[in-house]
Amino acid sequence: MPLPIANTAETVSRLRCIGCGATPESASQDFRCTACGDLVEFYFPGWTLDRPGEDARRSTGTDPAALKSLWLNRRTSREALDQSGVWRFRELLPHIPPEHAITLREGNTPLYHLPRCGRAVGVENLHAKHQGMNPTASFKDTGMTFAASSAHHGGFKWVACASTGNTSASMAAYAARGNMRSLVLIPDGKISWGKLSQSLDYGALTCQLRTDFDGCVRILNELVRQKPVYLLNSVNPYRIEGQKTAAIELMEQLGWEPPDHIIVPGGNLGNSSAIGKALVEMRDLKLISRLPKLSIIQAHGANPFYRSVREFGGKKIEPMTADTLATAIRIGNPASWRKALRALEATGGEVEEVSEVEIAAAKAEIGADGIGCEPASAVTLAGLKKLRHRGFVKPSESVVLVLTGHLLKDPDFTIKFHRGDLFAGTPDQAEAAQAKHLQRAPVVLDANLGAVIGVLDEAERNSK
Ligand code: F0G
Repeated sequence: MPLPIANTAETVSRLRCIGCGATPESASQDFRCTACGDLVEFYFPGWTLDRPGEDARRSTGTDPAALKSLWLNRRTSREALDQSGVWRFRELLPHIPPEHAITLREGNTPLYHLPRCGRAVGVENLHAKHQGMNPTASFKDTGMTFAASSAHHGGFKWVACASTGNTSASMAAYAARGNMRSLVLIPDGKISWGKLSQSLDYGALTCQLRTDFDGCVRILNELVRQKPVYLLNSVNPYRIEGQKTAAIELMEQLGWEPPDHIIVPGGNLGNSSAIGKALVEMRDLKLISRLPKLSIIQAHGANPFYRSVREFGGKKIEPMTADTLATAIRIGNPASWRKALRALEATGGEVEEVSEVEIAAAKAEIGADGIGCEPASAVTLAGLKKLRHRGFVKPSESVVLVLTGHLLKDPDFTIKFHRGDLFAGTPDQAEAAQAKHLQRAPVVLDANLGAVIGVLDEAERNSK
């Protein structure tokens, strides 16, 4: 069944293969080019500026100042689409007829100053764009509202994804809102209860396969060739388009003055691809005057992209068996690595890898700033420490960390860390001693006022 692509006078978009440049009229079931097998993406022919310095309004039909004020005005609207932090920016997205839009008022996420973390890493101007403040508590909602709407537009009854937990939670919610059925393929074990419980409550058909994320992807790719099921993984270019809006919203929050650095976690590499695409498009449309450097951080145990860039100069990727306690990014064969590489090269960003203990410590530090996030998001702060150490990020520069998931997504990890159990009996035990000062284990006491006062006084003495 050919999948719909939207082409209207409002936003003319086309599909293009990122490998061979073919421009198919419609997408295949797995969103790969039928000629070369690489991924397809949306592009907007009218936005390409032919000559450097050419006036954006004349060549694209979009006036940057008018767009900015239109988007700002929509914030006071009572229309559901205007209230969404994704659909509010619909002029920069392919056209989907509004009657097919499924929205939970996603986006609109806060940008927080991180003063303590900033002091600790030596960057005063450090902020976090908290994508965990979305309706299903992860960044996936911004892409999912758009891709689920495209499934609705295409008349699909079933949507499906392979997931480490957040995509499935998000997909299940949006499918339910759009009266579609959803099929979730997740690894059996190594997925947080918070995420699993979401897809159950939102009514998905949830299959826990005895494999890892990469194994789930393989089965799903075969399934969509045989069944009329719409694939909602981030290879779906509508996902990338929706996720672009996180970067657009961020620039709006910064008064369209880009930071020097944006730092994101890297798993399947859809998010970095989307943010990179948005930055380049905003630069081309003259919404921003320069590009921030987009850097991508992976866990050491799930670092195929890091190795691709560092060891093979981005020429190839070697799939691996991934292992990390940051289960969201436990991915050994990232689908969107070429798109992410392009984002890295376009913006001049870097790659880094961080250890399990570095992730756990960074997570507790983000928590101690009163913000919190799930383990995969904390790789950003851990990575920033390394980028600072190497001198890639300078003390005077501004940095935005993209926190991808909410603290409550994975309470098991948090409790084990604070109780000192997370690394007990593992090879990381010795390194974990360095993070001991960040642990705040609960204190179990008799129901006795004196005991509580004793603990309070001791804490006060220790804080001096
Ligand atoms: N952070 C969190 C919390 C995630 O859930 C994911 C990916 C990432 C970072 C990495 O983003 O894949 O775009 O590079 N989670 C996917 C899932 C794979 O199935 O929920 P990416």
